[in-house]
Amino acid sequence: MFRYSKLGYVALNVSDAEHTAEFYREHVGLTRSGTGDDGEQFLRCSTDHHNIVLYKSDSPGVKRIGWEMENEDELDNAIAALSDAGLTLNQVPRDECKALHQGRSVRFTEPHSGATFELYSAINQLRGAPFVPTVAKIQRIGHIVVKTPNHEAAVDYYMNTLNFRMSDIISDKVAFLRCFPNPYHHTMGLGNGPRGMHHINFMVSEIDDIGKAIHRLKKAQVAIVHGPGRHPPSGSIFLYFLDPDGMTIEYSFGMEEFPEQKARKAEYLEARSDSFDYWGAVPDPRKSSYGSVEILGPLIEELEAAK
Ligand SMILES: [Fe+2]
Repeated sequence: MFRYSKLGYVALNVSDAEHTAEFYREHVGLTRSGTGDDGEQFLRCSTDHHNIVLYKSDSPGVKRIGWEMENEDELDNAIAALSDAGLTLNQVPRDECKALHQGRSVRFTEPHSGATFELYSAINQLRGAPFVPTVAKIQRIGHIVVKTPNHEAAVDYYMNTLNFRMSDIISDKVAFLRCFPNPYHHTMGLGNGPRGMHHINFMVSEIDDIGKAIHRLKKAQVAIVHGPGRHPPSGSIFLYFLDPDGMTIEYSFGMEEFPEQKARKAEYLEARSDSFDYWGAVPDPRKSSYGSVEILGPLIEELEAAK
């Protein structure tokens, strides 16, 4: 199999890239790192050139999920293993890699959620300009959660084909997956439902980041749609709020880490409200209700039919 390094970045489709970039800078606490030729907005919360890219679109949601591989050899291993599994991988044209400030990159359609996955091992490091936290001490882009039908088959696919490990699962509602051997409880979540975006997460460094955000976001009239609360599976303290298009963003503090060897087995939790939150916070119906997944390639139904 092949080895990931981390969730590198998420590209989002948004109705107004400039306006949303300003929201991410001012209210989420990311740093802007440039504008692309088509007006796409690059933002970061690390020395990576980007951890979020915003593209203008009429249908807001997830455009692409970028996974950093451990090194070039692991990128090759992934390409070989995924091609063997029947996926079509497309090299990102050299000009586009250059515009993205990334090394060699490949893309394929993850056939369950329909999300475009991009694999790369090198991204420009802005070492001369380290990320300086502003409104929140963001540690990293934490995870992305998408919804998919045929949940059980999708989870199997992530474990057997995409080389993820399951950390925990709440019945048939949501599976928390980590890109092996990245230690964090989940870098990806799969919710059960019609294909679409669920939320995107940023990990923060202190409980104060959550507390301060409640007051700061309220003052700025940003809709808080769930929390504060504490997720039993990962132990994270969370706060969910909406971006200008209505997509759900999460801050969370604290997360279990797994060793590469002899990790504990996944726990199965019942689909009860206290499996989602110890503290009893009631989600607003707008939470995770908006955002599509841009689907470019064949879905699992089509791949199976072609067999
Ligand atoms: Fe989350």
